[in-house]
Parts: sequence; structure tokens; C-alpha cells
Amino acid sequence: MAVVLLLPTAYYPIGFMNFDLEKLVRENVRNLTPYSSARKEFSGAAQIFLDANENSFGSPLPENFNRYPDPQQTAIKEKIAGWNDVKPNQIFVGNGSDEAIDLLFRIFCRPQIDNVLICPPTYGMYEVSAEINDVKIRRANLTEDFGLDFEAIKNAIDENTKLLFVCSPNNPTGNSFAQAEILKLVKSFQGIVIVDEAYIHFSREKSLVNETNNFPNLVVLQTFSKAWGLAGLRVGLAFAGEGIIKFFNRVKSPYNVSQIAQQAVLQAFENKSQVEETIAEIISERQKLVEKLRKFSFVKRIYPTDANFVLVKTADADSIYKFLLDEKIVVRNRSNVELCAGCLRITVGTPDENELLLNSLRKL
Ligand SMILES: Cc1ncc(COP(=O)(O)O)c(C=O)c1O
Repeated sequence: MAVVLLLPTAYYPIGFMNFDLEKLVRENVRNLTPYSSARKEFSGAAQIFLDANENSFGSPLPENFNRYPDPQQTAIKEKIAGWNDVKPNQIFVGNGSDEAIDLLFRIFCRPQIDNVLICPPTYGMYEVSAEINDVKIRRANLTEDFGLDFEAIKNAIDENTKLLFVCSPNNPTGNSFAQAEILKLVKSFQGIVIVDEAYIHFSREKSLVNETNNFPNLVVLQTFSKAWGLAGLRVGLAFAGEGIIKFFNRVKSPYNVSQIAQQAVLQAFENKSQVEETIAEIISERQKLVEKLRKFSFVKRIYPTDANFVLVKTADADSIYKFLLDEKIVVRNRSNVELCAGCLRITVGTPDENELLLNSLRKL
């Protein structure tokens, strides 16, 4: 379906071509002198480090963690850049992609003045981060079939709309948006478009990471918490043009990703093929789960999914949710969320976990 996106020309005469990053960034951030550690200022091989008030005697553990970690996560960025068509200086590594979301507010949004646009139903942290940063939220709900509503987006934007969040595949609906549709937004909007690709590894759509070379107002988020199975480490990524990443580096806390997390991610890189196998397995389990869920009379609809979860419309989400809790099975009740009345969001588990879920549901 061809979609024509017309944004108010008064504000966005030629979209991203007219993009002025410096103007978009908050003045205090533009003028910020970032924290600079002595180690950042030194390059080469030092004999001893007596600059950072670390404990030179070591740690009460088999392995030492007494030194501050690499503030720039250089090894991780080099590896990830090698897998994509981007340079290491186009990557921010954060304490989960949630850190990147928060930093975007801090870099771009003036509290009580600016606003951001979200397309509900979508990931809840955009709104929470907005509230924490005292930034107004504007909503352009998805259409009934969970598509982007370009008319509503156009109407919701004004000259103070700094960020536009598009989650693809979207949480909690599970569907991806076509690349061409997202790029239409990127081309038309003079603020920052954030494409949250937390679930991209399970999707039929391709990542937009390499498009950060073409669009200076595009930020793509990814995470190690889903397909990589490393949620406990808290490591997420933002990809963007070098200009935006420079501001991420200015604003972040100096040592935002721990030594142990950096080490473990680098170790996981050695087992990338295992990640690919797991993704294939999750996708295959997802299909089996969908087919079995379809047979229950209380299941009204299962939405198409490109993620590692399914959104299931039921006859009575609250009572099924409570029943499953009594069975010690926790799913996500989304029935109070826009356009999701009666819906439960169910993560695809291992074959055994899925079977336990189905067995419990058979008792209903
Ligand atoms: C769409 C989306 N983005 C981001 C995140 C947060 O990921 P992270 O664990 O990297 O902070 C989640 C977590 O559920 C998510 O669903």
C-alpha cells in the first residue's frame, strides 16, 4: 500500500535534508564540558595506574575487577561495526537500550517545553522516560490492524516535537512495519526518528542500522537482551550518525557498562552461531505455539508476530491471567492497553515451558 506522508510544511519544508543537529540539541548539552577521566587523556602502555583512586590490591574474587572498565567499550564496538556497514563511532553501547532511550530525552528534550511522539500501543519505557524527564508525550495510535497512522502522526507533530519513536517489531503487538514506511517518516520529520529494533532478529524485515549512513536524524536501537539471551548483563546499542553518537558520549556516565558485562558480551560473540540457532528455534516454537493456542475456544485472535512473543486476544484476559498466576505461570496482561482489550502477551518459551503453559490452559 503506497502511503503519502504530508507533514506541515511550515515546520518541515524539506524534511531531513534541512536537519540541523546542533539546533536540535539542548543548549546545556551543546555547551557541556563532559567528564574526562585521566585514563581517557592518556594513551599508550602505562607502568602503573594511580589516577582513579581504584584499589590497586585487587578484588575479593577469583578474578580482579578493581580497575574501571573501558569507558568507550572499544572492543565491542569494533566487532559490531564489522558485522554492519557502520563505523565504531556510529555506535553507542549502553546499560540496556533503556539507557539509550533515557539519554535521547536528556540530549534533545527541554523539560516542559518539548514533546515526543509515540505510536501506542507500544513499549512503555518511552512514556516513563518522558515523564522522568518532564517531557510531554503526544500519541498517534496505531490503526486497528496495528499499522502506522500517518495522518494521526502528521496531526500530532508541532515545532517542539523532538523525538518520534517507532518500535519495529512493535511491543506488544509483535508486527514489524515495512522499511519503506519507516523511511518515509525519517525523510519527512526534521526531529529524530528512533527505530527500536529490540526484536529485529526474529523479524522478516531487515534492520535499518545501515540507513544511519544515509539519514542524520535516524537512531536505531538494538539490544543483547532478546535474541542474544543476555538480559541480565544489561547491554544495549544505539546506532546513528557520528554527530548524534558524539552527544551520547558526552551525556552518558563515564563507565556506563561494567567490566563483567563487556567481557561476557565479547565472549558471547565467539558463540554467534549458537545465537543464530536459538533464533531459528524460537521462530519454529513460535509457530507451534500459535497453532496450538488457536485451538482454544477462549482464544479470539492471535496477531501475526515478528517477535519472540505473541499477542493473543481472549474472551477474558483478566481471569485467564489470574488462573495462570495460580498455576505459577506468568504472562503479560495487556488488556488495559490501547487497542489491546482482552489481550495477553505471551513470550515464546522452551518446548517444555510452552507445553506446561498449554497443559495449564487445557484445564480452563
Ligand atoms: C521494544 C523494547 N525496547 C527496548 C527494551 C529494553 O531493552 P533493554 O533490556 O536493552 O533495556 C525492551 C524490553 O523489553 C523492549 O521491549
